[in-house]
Amino acid sequence: MHERRIRFRSIWVVFAAVSFAFVVGVRAEEPIKPLLEEIEVNTKKLMLGRMLFHDPRLSKNNTTSCHSCHNLGSGGDDGRETFIGIGGEPGDINTPTVFNSDFNFKQFWDGRANTVEDLINTHVQSPTYLGSSWPGIVSKLYQHESYPSRFKAIYPDGIHHKNIRNALGEFIRSLTTPNSRFDQYLEGDDTALSTLEKRGYALFKSYGCVSCHQGVNVGGSMFRVFGAVNDYFKNRGNITDADLGRYNVTRKAADRHVFKVPSLRMAALTQPYLHDGSATTLRDAVDVMFEFQLGREAPDEDKEEIVLFIKALLGESTDLSP
Ligand code: HEC
Ligand code: HEC
Repeated sequence: MHERRIRFRSIWVVFAAVSFAFVVGVRAEEPIKPLLEEIEVNTKKLMLGRMLFHDPRLSKNNTTSCHSCHNLGSGGDDGRETFIGIGGEPGDINTPTVFNSDFNFKQFWDGRANTVEDLINTHVQSPTYLGSSWPGIVSKLYQHESYPSRFKAIYPDGIHHKNIRNALGEFIRSLTTPNSRFDQYLEGDDTALSTLEKRGYALFKSYGCVSCHQGVNVGGSMFRVFGAVNDYFKNRGNITDADLGRYNVTRKAADRHVFKVPSLRMAALTQPYLHDGSATTLRDAVDVMFEFQLGREAPDEDKEEIVLFIKALLGESTDLSP
């Protein structure tokens, strides 16, 4: 009897293992991958990076910090169509979120920086963004009551521009949003998504959105022309330099209007959308995608279900709670 019970149990164990493998196996073939819950970060660097991220000393006139444009509590962007520069003048492009940005294969809409550290170098010295110089920042930070000792505790050479980038980079790398309901679903929890959200995901795949928005960041893994099927810019008019996208980096005709496919993980919070900030709601952005990237019509309910799926991509982060 005892033996039979054991055998009976082990049949269930085998059954459970096989069905688990089946579920995991099926999900493993999905074109979107879950975000890892754990990432390795150096806590001291992260804390210093967080302090720098919020510090207006990084700007030429001490008015603007990274956080001024990348408000973490509201999704890591500024909620504007285009950014406002340090002089108060309107910028030429929409501010993307800083959350999960390290998972993008390149930084900026046109991919002109390969790493977050390169991006910070450009941002800090650009006249419209922070308008600073590294020697200027280094000398301001040396006058601060705690920066000198904080830097010294981590970096033997103290406050140095490469260490500022390194600490800020570490903080940016820590800004991930794992455990979205969609990730839970990918990891095998079938109840994590509603029926409509599951349909939204199926439609996202069957209409071909996933051919561009894929991988761990549901985007951020390739460049594609904006207006792949219909000419978005002819339709909108008034073409600016920022609209040229990747062309500004390579000067190749084939790169005109080519942009990094943006991640959709934070899209639930980062309205307005598109590099020109012209799409006010997620639904507007989805309409634009259907018209110009796919050249297809779709019923309203399909588009609404896709929007529901995109909203279920929003994960968790303590930095996200205001
Ligand atoms: C004045 C507003 C402003 C400030 C200040 C600012 N940013 Fe940005 N940030 C932007 C805009 C706009 C872009 C997109 C620019 C582009 O693609 O050409 C951007 C892009 C980024 C990206 C790339 C995201 C991606 O997906 O490509 C990261 C990361 C980033 N900023 C981090 C920072 C950090 C760190 C600081 C502080 C050192 C900072 N930003 C300061 C407006 C700002
Ligand atoms: C051919 C590649 C391609 C396809 C297919 C595609 N997209 Fe996009 N998507 C892009 C690019 C490139 C952008 C950035 C456009 C720009 O420059 O503003 C974008 C932007 C977006 C945005 C705005 C994100 C933001 O933060 O501004 C959303 C939302 C979006 N796509 C959803 C979808 C959906 C839903 C579908 C399917 C109906 C889809 N995309 C199909 C390439 C694609």
